[in-house]
Amino acid sequence: MEVVVESGKILDIEAEILLLTFFEGEETLSGTAKLIDQRYEGLLTRIIQEKDFEGRLYQISVVYNRMQEPVKRIAMVGLGKKADFDLEKLRGAFAKAAQYVRSLNIKTLTSFVNSSEWSDSRFTLSELTEAVVEGTLLGLYQFTLFKTVDREKIKDMDRLLLVEDDPDRYHIVRESSRKAEAIARAVYFARDLVSAPGNEIKPRNLAEKALEMASSREKIEPIVFDEKQIRKLGMHALLAVAQGSHEPARFIVLKYKGDKDREEIIALVGKGITFDSGGISLKPSENMGEMKSDMAGAATVIATIMAAADLKLPVNLVGLIPATENLPGGCAYRPGDILNSLSGQTIEVITTDAEGRLILADALTYAGNYSPEAVVDIATLTGACVVALGNVAIGMLGTDSNLKQQIAEAGERTGERVWELPLWDEYFELIKSDIADYKNTGGRNGGAITAAAFLQKFVGNYPWVHLDIAGPSWLDKDRPYVPKGASGIGVRLLISWLRGLTKKD
Ligand code: BES
Ligand code: MN
Ligand code: ZN
Repeated sequence: MEVVVESGKILDIEAEILLLTFFEGEETLSGTAKLIDQRYEGLLTRIIQEKDFEGRLYQISVVYNRMQEPVKRIAMVGLGKKADFDLEKLRGAFAKAAQYVRSLNIKTLTSFVNSSEWSDSRFTLSELTEAVVEGTLLGLYQFTLFKTVDREKIKDMDRLLLVEDDPDRYHIVRESSRKAEAIARAVYFARDLVSAPGNEIKPRNLAEKALEMASSREKIEPIVFDEKQIRKLGMHALLAVAQGSHEPARFIVLKYKGDKDREEIIALVGKGITFDSGGISLKPSENMGEMKSDMAGAATVIATIMAAADLKLPVNLVGLIPATENLPGGCAYRPGDILNSLSGQTIEVITTDAEGRLILADALTYAGNYSPEAVVDIATLTGACVVALGNVAIGMLGTDSNLKQQIAEAGERTGERVWELPLWDEYFELIKSDIADYKNTGGRNGGAITAAAFLQKFVGNYPWVHLDIAGPSWLDKDRPYVPKGASGIGVRLLISWLRGLTKKD
């Protein structure tokens, strides 16, 4: 699937299908729609007058004109009420329209960035273009790698064609669509990793994928630590979780240097449990297969670094990924075990199913080595966060209000919204252990918070935010531009945050 921006007049362009957007409740046509309507003998007026198409959000109609040229079909998609318009609706409308057009087996979707109709300068041309391209590409994602029967029946679109007449606008649309393409490609990469089953993506495979990604990009320096090296580093909490599996753990480090003139670095830490059975504290079997997605945080970090490099963001990043399976093998760590973490602090294991915080604890301590200006960890950490926020929002907790604010704003911009939970002193009481420094669970109540409180004990002297994506990382129902399954959430959020820091678009 490619995105092409072509200079030309929308009225002259030849197309299999031309996509037009409409607001709800607007009886008279204006702008390009009006011109097209005139050319095709009132085709659009007719369907609107008959109320067969009303512009309701995501409503779609396809009309065929008798002349068949230069445009064979016109797809109409509703944006809902104009007063409610935002980028999220625009992404969704293009996604829904593109999915419909794909179902007709049409290979090229032609449209344009209709900024003057969509918003009165509330959003820039760049923002609108990015929303169009991201919405279309993300909405068309499908995970077909393991389908071998009737592959030819899988419908796939080849091209999104955006037409732009004005030369100044053309350059902006082209630039922005390239950026959006890079971001969407990174989200695809994350979704592919998360969708892949646990027998395909084990810690070593995850490391390979990270190395592969880095090798085709300048400015990314990867280092993968094997178990021997992890032991030498002293990451015994990570090693304890890995004990139960024959698959060795990995600690993956990806350095991206986008700003040579500065030493400051931001660390992104991602939970890389390639399969979480719960360990000796075995999970119930129902839906256990979904726990192949317990490395979604890791996938987000790898993909974010990929996108940052492709966008040439002028920031310095280090991605830190502790990767292991959590299995109940004969050498598995047990409830009751006491672990010595990299920080030197000891942890009493109450349940082997609270493994994410153990591997993140060591990675957060390690992050301190970089004296980072900020650390964001992202993890499918707790079922409690799913109970609290469902799959609609990311749980956010942290120590730095400035950083939290920046990330919250990026969440609004991207639709990958975060919701803050508190980290008050009382919660820290719940993770005190009688015989070690901390225990790895604070009980059922407030589980998302006590997990973060545990992490904070291993956070160094740097601003820190924790993002719990246990809910939104895996969807069991389609969203307009997120097909069910792996969402790839966090990539667009983190990239938007990083772009905001560098101010330059
Ligand atoms: N990976 C799970 C959290 C999870 C649950 C992610 C549901 C996605 C969907 C994590 O390792 C886990 O098992 N957490 C436990 C912690 C508890 C035992 C303290 C949980 O939330 O139940
Ligand atoms: Mn677990
Ligand atoms: Zn887990």
